Amino acid sequence: MKSKIRSWLLAVVLVGVAIALLAWLVSVFLNRSGDASAQLTLPVTPELISKGAYLARAGDCVACHTAHGGQTFAGGRGIESPIGTIYATNITPDKATGIGSWTYGEFERAVRRGVGHDGSALYPAMPFPSYALVSDEDTQALYAYFMNDVKPVQQANQANGIPWPLSIRWPLAYWRTLFSPTPESTVNAVASENPQIARGAYLVQGLGHCGSCHTPRALTMQEKGLNEQSPDYLTGALLNDWAVPSIRGIGHWSVEEIVDYLGSGRNDKASVAGEMTDVVANSTSHMSDQDLHAMAVYLKSLAGEGDTGRAHDPQRSAATAAKLTAAKDLTLGERLYLDNCGACHFVKGEGASRIFPRLDGASIINAQNPTALIHVILAGAQTPSTERGPSILPMPGFAARMNDAEVAELATFLRGGWSNQAPAVSADQVRQVRTALTEGHAKGEQKLEAGNDK
Ligand code: HEC
Ligand code: HEC
Ligand code: HEC
Repeated sequence: MKSKIRSWLLAVVLVGVAIALLAWLVSVFLNRSGDASAQLTLPVTPELISKGAYLARAGDCVACHTAHGGQTFAGGRGIESPIGTIYATNITPDKATGIGSWTYGEFERAVRRGVGHDGSALYPAMPFPSYALVSDEDTQALYAYFMNDVKPVQQANQANGIPWPLSIRWPLAYWRTLFSPTPESTVNAVASENPQIARGAYLVQGLGHCGSCHTPRALTMQEKGLNEQSPDYLTGALLNDWAVPSIRGIGHWSVEEIVDYLGSGRNDKASVAGEMTDVVANSTSHMSDQDLHAMAVYLKSLAGEGDTGRAHDPQRSAATAAKLTAAKDLTLGERLYLDNCGACHFVKGEGASRIFPRLDGASIINAQNPTALIHVILAGAQTPSTERGPSILPMPGFAARMNDAEVAELATFLRGGWSNQAPAVSADQVRQVRTALTEGHAKGEQKLEAGNDK
């Protein structure tokens, strides 16, 4: 009897091993995408190199491939994922530790196909499902730039913090085959009768990889759509609990206002905050007016209203402004607002065009999840300095000046004041955000120091 069970077990193990081997073999085959020995076909001219530099901005390669305080493109920045930290690699042309000895084909496979230098599958923390759309010519320009104009930095790559067996890479080849398009399948994918919309779609869907934050993900982690053929595309998502707005249609802004926001981090209604701040500072603010217009026109062409916050309600707005002006029988939240915020955002909550964002109707205040609002009150925020808007406009953090219950009262007032209508905030919710910030969970940035009140 015992030996029967034993041989039965042995059979199961053998079949299991055979299936795993076969799956692995097929994955090796799946990784044979592209041609690792391909060479540049375009002549390397100063124009091609500067075009590549521009495209590297549009693709925001620096965002992930540069560690906080580290050397440009030398890698080492950790990206949190549900299975562990994935470190972006050194993409400077250093021969020993970077991509200096790579062929064009090897570079192309990594960027557009998610196949690494050693032929293994890359984690989609590298946004290759979006970059698959990048044209041959633009990929060549990127390669010309990285090889010829980026300073080589010798810095060894950091091993990923993913435990075995999750660290086994070959199953990723299946993920990629299921969810990431190949460059071949995306040729002419963004053809539109309107060349401006086609250019905007190419940038937003491709190098801009805007969907990686603005499109909700499925359980298997792929974006629910990579272009407007999916009704979920760019409909907004949660990023570390921060509500990322829908950018389909953007009904509350004009094309000019979108261009302003992407180009300078501010417009007459809002200022950029959260992870979008770095996107503006590193990427969109360096793009040409023509390309920003193309992206804005494309986003406006998508069916949807965007995340409009709350429509202006003149009666409720006036009532809140009157109560704050009279300054009688104030609730704790109202008093905290007058004492700490009114000097910049004013009793009408209207702010000042291109300087202090509007709070009346703002989507960050009306979002169902209050994390982003609490985060801004505790840690402050900063409109980045860009060529189009050089002044840095800081909003101080109030972590050291208010306790959890006070921040909750203040946030609850903001979410019910003027035209705003969103559920109250509890001290417990504030405590959670404060803890995450103090421990630097929020991707290592804007970490709260004790007594931080810049
Ligand atoms: C959102 C973050 C992110 C952005 C943006 C990004 N990368 Fe990456 N990239 C990564 C990560 C993470 C890896 C490592 C993936 C892995 O280990 O599987 C990677 C890997 C690579 C590799 C492969 C390295 C190797 O050792 O095989 C290359 C080449 C590369 N990226 C180039 C680029 C270029 C060029 C751009 C801009 C057009 C870019 N990346 C933008 C996160 C990013
Ligand atoms: C790293 C994540 C990330 C990426 C990539 C990203 N965004 Fe954002 N975006 C955000 C977040 C977070 C906000 C909310 C900012 C706030 O709360 O102030 C935002 C806000 C916006 C807004 C303001 C919308 C509104 O109605 O308030 C626009 C427009 C926008 N993004 C466009 C883009 C475009 C275009 C791209 C691609 C070029 C892009 N974003 C890429 C995270 C991202
Ligand atoms: C010294 C002037 C100043 C004070 C005081 C101030 N703010 Fe701000 N606030 C700003 C600036 C400037 C920004 C834009 C920063 C940025 O780019 O997000 C901002 C941004 C914000 C935002 C984000 C708006 C958006 O659209 O992303 C919120 C919410 C906010 N402030 C609420 C408050 C509250 C609540 C207080 C009081 C506790 C306060 N502010 C005090 C100047 C100020």
